[in-house]
Amino acid sequence: MNDLDALVRAAGEAFAAAAEPAALENEKARFLGKAGSVTELLKGLAKLAPEEKKAQGARINAAKEAIEALLAARRAQLAEAELNARLAAESFDVTLPGRKLSAGGIHPVLQTWMRIEEIFGSIGFDVADGPEIESDWHNFTALNNPENHPARSMQDTFYVDMKDADGKPLMLRTHTSPMQVRYARMHKPPIKVIAPGRTYRVDSDATHSPMFHQVEGLWIDEDISFADLKAVYTDFLHRFFETDDLQVRFRPSFFPFTEPSAEIDMMFATGPNKGKWLEISGAGQVHPTVVRNFGLDPERYTGFAFGSGIERLTMLRYGVNDLRLFFEGDLRFLQQFN
Ligand code: DAH
Repeated sequence: MNDLDALVRAAGEAFAAAAEPAALENEKARFLGKAGSVTELLKGLAKLAPEEKKAQGARINAAKEAIEALLAARRAQLAEAELNARLAAESFDVTLPGRKLSAGGIHPVLQTWMRIEEIFGSIGFDVADGPEIESDWHNFTALNNPENHPARSMQDTFYVDMKDADGKPLMLRTHTSPMQVRYARMHKPPIKVIAPGRTYRVDSDATHSPMFHQVEGLWIDEDISFADLKAVYTDFLHRFFETDDLQVRFRPSFFPFTEPSAEIDMMFATGPNKGKWLEISGAGQVHPTVVRNFGLDPERYTGFAFGSGIERLTMLRYGVNDLRLFFEGDLRFLQQFN
């Protein structure tokens, strides 16, 4: 029947014109919905005589099936178009080189730390590790720091809101020197140890960071003298900087835990720092009071100690001029060391 053929064609055109699923479902309602054209036609059958009803009903159903087939085809078409669009949007170029998992590297400060352990380890020094939150006694008193020493002030030291067994506030250790006391009280002479680790001070500029690293050294036995300090530390510098072409001097200084005390300076014969004395470490013969605090007799046991900045050694070895670079985590800086 002509009007049914026209209806099927109209539905086909309307479905084709629907550019997306929602529009297509609206068109479907127009033809197949409760108030749609096909439904209206089917309702009209009621008025017809039985014979006519059968014939007309069959034609309307055929038209309905044709429209449903067109709808299903268009739905499939739109779904496929959507899938293709998504695949295109999410596609990637399989010919591109893969993204590598980049390898991590060892931080330059840790490289220095490991180097120090290796060099001192090779001449028989043990390596010790201890707490970063320290008691007043270990950090100051046992090291012969007088009660009114400026290092004990709030301006220089990070105190922790907790008290130790003596009722004194705990603190972030200001140096690795308390490890001398901790280690010496747990070992019998000969005591020959380095203690590298983190230390903390209220300090921040191009050459100071509130957190920094030191390495403590301690050698206590019968007859260990300042001459041994000179030999050991000079040899260390030669090996650390991989050159004998540097000078070392021991400049008189003061530390409460050593007597005599010295600053160790060094001077390169070549390179950007050529001819400049550079301060590299504190050191000295351990003070008799401190040896006593180790639990040892200072008449029998003597020896030396030193405390060196690990960042300082790293900066000199690699020619870094701003200490803050070590702590910014900038890969452009860090990658140069690996
Ligand atoms: N603890 C000192 C500081 O942080 C460094 C130091 C000096 C350590 C002399 C020593 C030493 O063991 O003998 O400034």
